[in-house]
Amino acid sequence: MTPRHLLIGLSVLVLAACSQAAPPEASKPTPAAAAQATGPATHAQAAAAAKARPAAFEPPPESAIPEGPFGDVVREGREIFVNTDVAAKAYVGNGLRCSNCHLDAGRLANSAPLWGAYVAYPAYRAKNGHVNTLGERLQGCFKYSMNGKAPPLDSKEMVALETYAFWMAKGAPTGEKLPGAGYPKKGFKPPQPPDYARGEAVFKAHCALCHGADGQGQQVAGRYVFPPLWGPDSFNWGAGMHQLDNAAAFIKANMPLSQGGTLTDQDAWDVAMYMDGHERPQDPRYKGDLAATRKAYHDTPMSLYGTTVNGHLLGSAPATRN
Ligand code: HEC
Ligand code: HEC
Repeated sequence: MTPRHLLIGLSVLVLAACSQAAPPEASKPTPAAAAQATGPATHAQAAAAAKARPAAFEPPPESAIPEGPFGDVVREGREIFVNTDVAAKAYVGNGLRCSNCHLDAGRLANSAPLWGAYVAYPAYRAKNGHVNTLGERLQGCFKYSMNGKAPPLDSKEMVALETYAFWMAKGAPTGEKLPGAGYPKKGFKPPQPPDYARGEAVFKAHCALCHGADGQGQQVAGRYVFPPLWGPDSFNWGAGMHQLDNAAAFIKANMPLSQGGTLTDQDAWDVAMYMDGHERPQDPRYKGDLAATRKAYHDTPMSLYGTTVNGHLLGSAPATRN
């Protein structure tokens, strides 16, 4: 982790986002600057939105991770989850960590928490047309969300991640979709079709402060403290977050950070369209024909891949790291 003295002079925001090991309360600050930039939205609104949903499953507190060899592997899994770029470096091809999209180290309801995932697999996935074990599902996030390589199913990384998820789901019923599992996208529809230009305005007002004016995030000492939303260091065109419904639901529930539920539904869809209307790394399933790749894997209005947005054919000039 970055030495503290490097951070002096940076805003409280950056400090807060950096302290990975801090307890949940401390890692969810309410920075004055962000609050200002996000205008009239209030925490009361966010609280009201959260209240409207059924109570989520409560995972055990981190302090309950036991001593001994089992607990050691749970801790190893947590470490891979929150510091993926360091702890599972060989399998990561961008600047993201699992916990950038599965907030609070995979514990937070409505950000596809690990406890919700653990009890939901094996499951059939249309994405690859067969029943996936939890291990295979985890491999998918490495390949697409992390733009990397899938660790082998019996690798120590995979065993550690599954052990962490198993520990977190303690006491949860299996085979049921728990309240708070996944991203809350069921029935979440845009009042009007999402719009790129409106999304750009939302981005400037509510997101650029942290994710940068160009969406490329912000780094301290070579590591991202605010993750990139598109471009070479972000998730690739095969990732779930490139689909408008996933992105809109995640953003509505969780962004701006610590102020989930404060954007209007329309703003969440519009800014999702703006974010997913930018280039990112190529879909690893691409074999040289954009239209064929769209037809095979992206044949849905929720994917902008292979369509023209803001005058650019998305996927025709994918972002690459130099
Ligand atoms: C760019 C954002 C992003 C990153 C980074 C990311 N994921 Fe995901 N993950 C998603 C999305 C989107 C879904 C699909 C959620 C849904 O369909 O509701 C998902 C789904 C999952 C699921 C299944 C959840 C469920 O309830 O079915 C697991 C498990 C998972 N991710 C683990 C990981 C792991 C492990 C990593 C790091 C190696 C990771 N993810 C990194 C976005 C991300
Ligand atoms: C106060 C700072 C802040 C603001 C404002 C903010 N974010 Fe984030 N965002 C973060 C941080 C930090 C993370 C990673 C969370 C973590 O690792 O715990 C994140 C994660 C994300 C992710 C998943 C990771 C990735 O890079 O794809 C998306 C998507 C996202 N934010 C979109 C948005 C959008 C859209 C807005 C504006 C509506 C927004 N954010 C506003 C700080 C912020």
